[in-house]
Amino acid sequence: MSARLIFNIGELTTNDPTLGDGSVLGRLRDAALVVDETKVLWVGESAKAPGCDESIDADGAAVVPGFVDSHTHLVFAGERSDEFEARMAGTPYDGGGIARTVAATREASRLELHTQTAKRVRELQAGGVTTMEIKSGYELTLSGEQRLLAIASEFTDEVTFLGAHVVPDEFAHDRRAYVELVIDQMLKRCAPMARWADVFCEQGAFDVDEARKILLQARIMGLGLRVHGNQLGDSGGVALAVELDAASVDHCTHVNDHDLEALAASGTVATLLPGAEFCTRSSYPSGRRLLDAGATVALATDCNPGTSYVTSMSFVIALAVREMAMTVDEALWAATRGGARALRRDDIGHLGVGARADVVLLDAPRAAHLAYRPCGAVVGRTLRALR
Ligand code: NIG
Ligand code: FE
Repeated sequence: MSARLIFNIGELTTNDPTLGDGSVLGRLRDAALVVDETKVLWVGESAKAPGCDESIDADGAAVVPGFVDSHTHLVFAGERSDEFEARMAGTPYDGGGIARTVAATREASRLELHTQTAKRVRELQAGGVTTMEIKSGYELTLSGEQRLLAIASEFTDEVTFLGAHVVPDEFAHDRRAYVELVIDQMLKRCAPMARWADVFCEQGAFDVDEARKILLQARIMGLGLRVHGNQLGDSGGVALAVELDAASVDHCTHVNDHDLEALAASGTVATLLPGAEFCTRSSYPSGRRLLDAGATVALATDCNPGTSYVTSMSFVIALAVREMAMTVDEALWAATRGGARALRRDDIGHLGVGARADVVLLDAPRAAHLAYRPCGAVVGRTLRALR
């Protein structure tokens, strides 16, 4: 494809502070964008746009970078709506249901898992997601985790090994043996299939010492690090993530002042997953407190059958704005450039020259409609760069 011009953009959010109004959102009015099949080639005023063979008239609509969903568990079988109903009636979430998804996923054929994952990927993409991370973690056997990673790799390069999701039932009597299996065998076989390793560091899953051992070995095997931390309580996961310079610590629902300070001084992104609080009827993390402390915040769906069967980044943005005291602009940045930071990527999450041509045209004059019309069809057309 030759260059393609998108012109007549009413409000262009580039997330490149060297452009437009000079804010972190790098915003321009009456703007245009030239892209080819992989990259952004030109950004500027619509009136000054160069001619191109192909063009798209945005007709005054807002344009934003494609969403970067940096935390999903898309490869699974079955569903747990009964747990959701119980939680709405007051039963707290404790992670216990993970074993049910593990059982259903082990039973499922590769074709079935692939088909279901593809369907969820399409849902995310229809909502404007152009990059997504996908974790394993619902088989918890050597061959099973490899199977999930192989399926995830068919949809993204941002693949995460989550063999340390919980201790599976067959190791309940000897959790040390499971941790050893992860460290000695699973990591060796799974590391070449993934970019990241993640551990659910929480009461009922893995404690800080277990998580540290697993993550240190993962690092030796060449993987980048991520942590599920402080979702259900003060698990120590945030401090561990910062200690290990993990790319991201996810959930951060319960953070103390030390965690806040540590995050602010670190290169670890605090990834907030408000779909999980929505679906577990829990208190939301304080996006405002994290931002005011100086932490880098990302937003992601956490799409999974237990705590967040959510495939809409616009819904996540709306929750962040309505329930977590983030401004629309902060939430939009967190769902795009913040997600990119959580994946340690500079080529996505913004529309500066040279960025990947992942562009979302909204069916709205302003990006604020993402939160303002939470269930509306605000995402119009998505252009996704060739991978
Ligand atoms: O990120 N908290 C751990 N893992 C998932 C939930 C998994 C499940 O309940 O199936 C999460 O919320
Ligand atoms: Fe998760």
